[in-house]
Parts: sequence; structure tokens; C-alpha cells
Amino acid sequence: MRPNVVNSNPEALRRPTWIFGVGRRACPGEQFGQQALFITTAKILWAFDVAATEPIDTSMERGFFAGLVIGPEAFNATYSPRSDLRRQAVLTDHRNAEALLDEML
Ligand code: HEM
Repeated sequence: MRPNVVNSNPEALRRPTWIFGVGRRACPGEQFGQQALFITTAKILWAFDVAATEPIDTSMERGFFAGLVIGPEAFNATYSPRSDLRRQAVLTDHRNAEALLDEML
């Protein structure tokens, strides 16, 4: 905690999320983690039509769980490739990633 910052400019401490911690021991992987999650989510949405197989309860009272973080209750969904081209692209990425991992390990 830096009292001079807190007292002179509390806005400087505003963050969109506290999940990565704060202060001296804050997570040094924050940027990496956020970018990795963004890329993964974007790729999933690019490659697949994601559809729930049952009605989802989205009410705040019953649709979410609370804990260290809040999240939606689990539900079943299907992931269907949006086209054969995208399906092939995912399979190619997967093969390339496996080959890289084999080389590294
Ligand atoms: C979504 C992903 C991640 C979350 C939610 C997360 C969260 C956290 C949290 C809450 C802390 C403790 C902060 C504190 O003590 O106040 C922490 C520490 C740390 N994280 Fe992450 N982290 C993530 C990803 C990463 C990644 C990708 C790396 C490395 C590439 C990483 C490396 C570290 C290290 C080295 C520390 C210890 C820092 C210290 O004690 O000085 N984290 N992380």
C-alpha cells in the first residue's frame, strides 16, 4: 500500500477486476492471462456455434454460484463447427500445437 497514492489520487487504484491481486504481490502474469483468455474465447466463438441444450436460468437468484468468483451454474451445451473450413483450421492448429509440444518436451 502506498498511502501517498491512496490519499492523493484514489482513482489511480481503480481496476476493472481484483482477481489478479493488488500491490507488491500482484500477479505478474495478469497481461498474459487476460490476453490468453481473450484469444481463447475469440477463437472458440470464431470456430464454433455454441448452443445450450436446455433452457438456462439466468436469474441472479438461481442462475449463478458465488464464491471467490461469481459464475453461471453449469449447463450442457453443444459446440458445432461453424463451417468445414473452420473445423479444418482448428484441427490444423491442434496438430501444430501438438508437434510444438512434442519438440519442446
Ligand atoms: C487467469 C489467470 C491468473 C489469475 C486469475 C492469477 C491470479 C493471481 C493472484 C490472485 C496472485 C496473488 C496476488 C497476491 O498475492 O496479492 C497471483 C500471483 C502470481 N501469479 Fe498469477 N494469475 C493468473 C495467471 C498467471 C500467469 C499466466 C502467470 C505467469 C506466466 C502468473 C504468475 C504469477 C506469479 C509469479 C505470482 C506470484 C507473485 C508474487 O508473489 O510476487 N499468474 N496470481
